[in-house]
Amino acid sequence: MLEINHLKAAYGQVQVLHGIELKVPKGQVVTLIGSNGAGKTTTMRAISGMLKPTGGSILLGGKSIAGLPAHRIARIGLAHSPEGRRVFPTQTVRDNLLLGAFTRLTFGGRPRGDIRGDLDRALDLFPRLRERQFQLAGTLSGGEQQMLAMARALMLNPDVLLLDEPSMGLAPILVEEVFHIIGRLKEQGMTMLLVEQFAAAALAVADYGYVLENGRIAVHGPAEQLRNDPKVRAAYLGIAH
Ligand SMILES: Nc1ncnc2c1ncn2[C@@H]1O[C@H](COP(=O)(O)OP(=O)(O)O)[C@@H](O)[C@H]1O
Ligand SMILES: [Mg+2]
Repeated sequence: MLEINHLKAAYGQVQVLHGIELKVPKGQVVTLIGSNGAGKTTTMRAISGMLKPTGGSILLGGKSIAGLPAHRIARIGLAHSPEGRRVFPTQTVRDNLLLGAFTRLTFGGRPRGDIRGDLDRALDLFPRLRERQFQLAGTLSGGEQQMLAMARALMLNPDVLLLDEPSMGLAPILVEEVFHIIGRLKEQGMTMLLVEQFAAAALAVADYGYVLENGRIAVHGPAEQLRNDPKVRAAYLGIAH
């Protein structure tokens, strides 16, 4: 579904990604693990068009998307729920969600689809948002805003969903809820690339994982295998020997 080869990216003169190889097969959850500053967010930004790659290829459903503007990549079927909470604080929760479907309405490249049905499905997945749908997004707690960002990405009705640290800054109970929701999305067949500080939980929900070190893939394999890899355990799962 998503196939990345030799992906390179830079901020000005500083090269951050040095040739990433990564695949996200249809219906699978793939996780990208790495320390702070390894380049996980940069990888996601390069895929979704928020940052123009300096090299390599990115295929989404067989179509080349590397270097296309973000709105075109979204239209082809990729949604990115970025790091941090990017909601429109002075719009209601419901309007934030409807704005998520806006790209698909305006550009019309994908079927208009059943926006009301998608809204219902998103609100089913996030009951907290259903309760608060007529509240201004700026009045939600940080955790709820994070969920709103995720739900809004889903409103694009994407073929592939990129989730960058969806549990960042959340209370433990909400972290659990976010992982529960990721599990439900997986059951529904959603193809996802997941970046998470809770690497053990990410590997538990994922089918496959990649470890990113200094802008390069250091190790990759089935999630189960990475979970049992002594080096991965020591470096990323906080488990000695
Ligand atoms: N906007 C930016 N301008 C310049 N350097 C950046 C910018 N964003 C990130 N970087 C640098 O790129 C590297 C990778 O960052 P990032 O992709 O955010 O890592 P991660 O998400 O794995 O923590 C880091 O060295 C970081 O300092
Ligand atoms: Mg990051």
